[in-house]
Amino acid sequence: MKKKILSGMRPTGKLHLGHLVGALKNWSKLQDEYDCLFMVADWHALMSEYKNPENLKEYALDNVIDWISCGIDPEKSTLFIQSQVQEHLELYMTLSCITPLGLLERCPTYKEQLRELKTREVNNYAFLGYPVLQAADILLYKAEVVPVGEDQLPHLELTRELSNRFNSNFKQQVFPEPQAMLTQFPRLLGLDGRKMSKSYDNYIGLSDDSDIIFAKVKTMITDPKRIRKTDPGDPEVCNVHSYYKVFSDQQMCATVEKQCQNAEIGCTDCKKRLGDILVKFLEPIQAKRKELLNDKKIILKILETGQEKAATIAGATMKQVRQAVGL
Ligand code: TRP
Ligand code: SF4
Repeated sequence: MKKKILSGMRPTGKLHLGHLVGALKNWSKLQDEYDCLFMVADWHALMSEYKNPENLKEYALDNVIDWISCGIDPEKSTLFIQSQVQEHLELYMTLSCITPLGLLERCPTYKEQLRELKTREVNNYAFLGYPVLQAADILLYKAEVVPVGEDQLPHLELTRELSNRFNSNFKQQVFPEPQAMLTQFPRLLGLDGRKMSKSYDNYIGLSDDSDIIFAKVKTMITDPKRIRKTDPGDPEVCNVHSYYKVFSDQQMCATVEKQCQNAEIGCTDCKKRLGDILVKFLEPIQAKRKELLNDKKIILKILETGQEKAATIAGATMKQVRQAVGL
């Protein structure tokens, strides 16, 4: 029996290279070894986007199209939309009963989001419970492994805590203790060296065309000590070089390093070459995306099948939960 994996992504916009390197590459690699469920976390998105919710549905579909274009295979994995499986909210409510408020108020992601998301009002009741819904997502499927970014570790910690609390409070061994799995790939920073994010406008989109890609790469910050083309550079402090590490082979990386250190190439040319690499890298992904965009019915069908599979597992778990809590 394969171990079960659940992971999710919030549909708050179009996807970019950060999603691909930070999650999708990893997800697609795990599909053979694990029984994978990949979920569009639209309730989680609504918690912060409730004032402008009109695009959530469109983004959900668009994200799933990108997932598949990047190698997520609906034949192997179960793809579904959170809000289409009602048991998420039922388990969320159940877990809420055994969640001490202090655990949520002290959650580092909560405190950070209150500080960072200035443009959105996230001091609502739902947002405080964000990690409880995430725990419900995971426990509903009794997932044993959860691939996430480092920023999500506190949520996994809470999930384990709630799993144990549930089992001991209701005196039944219903839930396993899920493990976080961190991505092995080196992290990809945004164009400006901060975390790649839509809200920082420092990303390269999966559907950006070549003109946009070249223009964006041009703005990237290089070794700040390298002023003239004749100055030797230090690739280790250059973000352009870190992109080479992710998107080109070892030989190309070695070439860049040598050329940079010996001032054999200017940053402008080095960036042009990176632009070419990125355009080529995205070509098959964009081709697949175009194909799927022309046939949205296929996507809806995939999500319908996914929802049925997910709902079967979720229904069985909730049956056990209702029995355990005595409702
Ligand atoms: N909070 C996650 C994120 O922002 C998204 C998410 C929702 C998730 N439910 C999940 C991730 C369950 C893993 C498992 O990235
Ligand atoms: Fe960065 Fe390339 Fe310029 Fe070196 S030559 S500093 S790696 S952009």
